[in-house]
Amino acid sequence: MTVYFIGAGPGDPELITVKGQRLIRQCPVIIYAGSLVPAAVLEGHQASTVINSAELHLEQIIAAMRTAHEHGQDVARVHSGDPSLYGAIGEQIRHLKALGIDYQIIPGVTATAASAALLGCELTLPQVAQTVILTRYGDSSPMPPGEQLADLARHGSTLAIHLGVKHLPRIVEALLPHYGTECPVAVVHRATWPDQDWVRGTLGNIVERSAAKHFRRTALILVGHVLGDAPFAESALYRAGHAHLYRPGD
Ligand SMILES: C[S@@+](CC[C@H](N)C(=O)[O-])C[C@H]1O[C@@H](n2cnc3c(N)ncnc32)[C@H](O)[C@@H]1O
Repeated sequence: MTVYFIGAGPGDPELITVKGQRLIRQCPVIIYAGSLVPAAVLEGHQASTVINSAELHLEQIIAAMRTAHEHGQDVARVHSGDPSLYGAIGEQIRHLKALGIDYQIIPGVTATAASAALLGCELTLPQVAQTVILTRYGDSSPMPPGEQLADLARHGSTLAIHLGVKHLPRIVEALLPHYGTECPVAVVHRATWPDQDWVRGTLGNIVERSAAKHFRRTALILVGHVLGDAPFAESALYRAGHAHLYRPGD
């Protein structure tokens, strides 16, 4: 018996992996994060038990897994995006280890990838930014030392800020000294869902522009010069004359 932590992807039910979909259709028990996982992701399931974890606390979720274990039933534990990011799977895994219950993680398409796809851009442009920092606004979960937005902003990297849209003014305030008012920003709401929407702007005007959209939750804030028209170099990978393993003759 195994608990499979499955990444459901950002919303579009076609953005789950083939493996994740197969496991959802095979497992007799499904526990899904109903606040962010669309029902369509569960289509075709044959499970006898389907539980929405949005209504449960941790101990109740573990109890459901334990019951499945006692009956020898595999569990599809479905999380939004990729389970390894803000999925609260660490605490579930800690319990499973203590109980001697096997688990596996099936990765998923994260909101950052879905948002970049929607905006039609690369987050790592040569000579502009080669680093993406995935972070969150620390509200209910305070940030550890050294991970305040101002600390991260010193790098000038591309930022993907989760769980922060309600706090956009504070986020902008923390980033302005490092990125400047002209730095491009996008706020992407429910990327890949039927009602997806987004707004682009700069650190100087994004608060006003985003407020007009009334995004309250499930929005990702992307910040960085890769979102604008900053000049960038071509990558070495495809440069004529750059020889490597697969193009040794160049
Ligand atoms: C609890 S975190 C889960 C992140 C998820 N595990 C992932 O890999 O994307 C939820 C936050 O992720 C972001 N998010 C999740 N799905 C999103 C989507 N479809 N569009 C935009 N942001 C999304 C929002 O910031 C939301 O508040």
